[in-house]
Amino acid sequence: MSNPKDVRHVVVDLLDDVTIEKRLLSEVLPKRLAKLPAEDRARAQRLVIQTLRDMDRCDRMLGPFLRQRPVPRVLNVLRLGVSEICNGGAAHGVVNACVEIAKAQAETEHARGLVNAVLRKIDREKDKWDTLPIPRLPKWLRKPLLADYGKEAVAAMEEAQFAGAPVDLTAKGDVAALAKAVKGTQLPTGSVRLSDAGQITNLPGYAEGDWWVQDAAAALPAKVLAAQAGETILDMCAAPGGKTMQLAAAGAAVTALDVSEGRMTRVEENLTRTKLSAELVTRDALEFEGGPFDAILLDAPCTATGTIRRHPDLPYAKDGGEFPGLFELQEHMIDRALGLLKPGGRLVYCTCSLLIDEGEEQVRDALARHEGLAVDHDALRLPGVEADWIGPEGLRLFPHYMADQGGMDGFFITCLRRK
Ligand SMILES: C[S@@+](CC[C@H](N)C(=O)[O-])C[C@H]1O[C@@H](n2cnc3c(N)ncnc32)[C@H](O)[C@@H]1O
Repeated sequence: MSNPKDVRHVVVDLLDDVTIEKRLLSEVLPKRLAKLPAEDRARAQRLVIQTLRDMDRCDRMLGPFLRQRPVPRVLNVLRLGVSEICNGGAAHGVVNACVEIAKAQAETEHARGLVNAVLRKIDREKDKWDTLPIPRLPKWLRKPLLADYGKEAVAAMEEAQFAGAPVDLTAKGDVAALAKAVKGTQLPTGSVRLSDAGQITNLPGYAEGDWWVQDAAAALPAKVLAAQAGETILDMCAAPGGKTMQLAAAGAAVTALDVSEGRMTRVEENLTRTKLSAELVTRDALEFEGGPFDAILLDAPCTATGTIRRHPDLPYAKDGGEFPGLFELQEHMIDRALGLLKPGGRLVYCTCSLLIDEGEEQVRDALARHEGLAVDHDALRLPGVEADWIGPEGLRLFPHYMADQGGMDGFFITCLRRK
């Protein structure tokens, strides 16, 4: 058992969860952070994210000092130490803390001398850190991306992912007023970007429900759908509710559906805070009966490969093995959604993925399966969206778009209309 009083013990536990147990941080963070005093939680989260983002660089720094690969937890202790030291942490304190973590468990105790010696050498070599290359995406993801977009685009994505992500807000009402209140920047697409967010819940308007956190790219699907007051809209994979809130704020009669009971609680909490309403249904979308609806938003479960800027754990927790199952589910969900639409109704399909299997190919296949279905390109032409982001099948967004302003999540978004 780790010492629950030391943030770094929990950080190493989290690194083990991701790299050894292959768990996503989103699955393990709540339980692990619950062990820490409130004031340490943000620090633990920042340290684990930073170490995961730096992982490739840490391993390059460590390589010359390790004759053989240490046991996995020792490697994670070293990675945390390297990341902290090379990002300006006080070496003496970091080395001592890492040695203590090694000493705390029988399986790692033997390595305390190694941790001490290696981290001291790293401190002497830390000038090399800034000369190391930008970390590459894992092979299982890099290969299909190279084939689809080429070397230059993949290098730009890797750079954007390494840079991390700012915090974006979506306003419930006036965007300019929100930008002023939170001292943020209004992006051309209508989101408000914060350069230094601090504690989110302390920002003006949080308690009043004037805004919610949502990446600039993630805010676009609801804008493409352009809900009108009084329209009936099904948000088919709704949790935690970012897009449900946008649709409800436009005055539509929204049915928010999601299969996950736990995640549905988040939708409820978000709607309560923002004083918005929607009918909540916890069910498998493939079994849902209802409608017909004027419009449907299908933000399908996907590989989330467009969100690595925010979730640097993903390349280490996943290996691409379960992806074909997701592609199949997306296809079934598109067919189900089309069956729930009124004639002439619109289906906005989106995924926070970089893979064309979850975007362009899904659309090409759906058009082949459904006679009379067409892409509504006009719906994709939104403020801030550049013309060359729109392809025949829909809007393709990359992490390196708007890079000078902090980038955006990778996404695919389209609007399908049925005659
Ligand atoms: C990308 S997330 C949705 C994000 C959400 N639209 C938002 O903007 O906050 C995908 C969601 O699909 C849900 N999901 C997965 N399989 C499902 C199914 N068979 N039926 C309904 N929802 C499903 C997951 O629980 C998850 O909440």
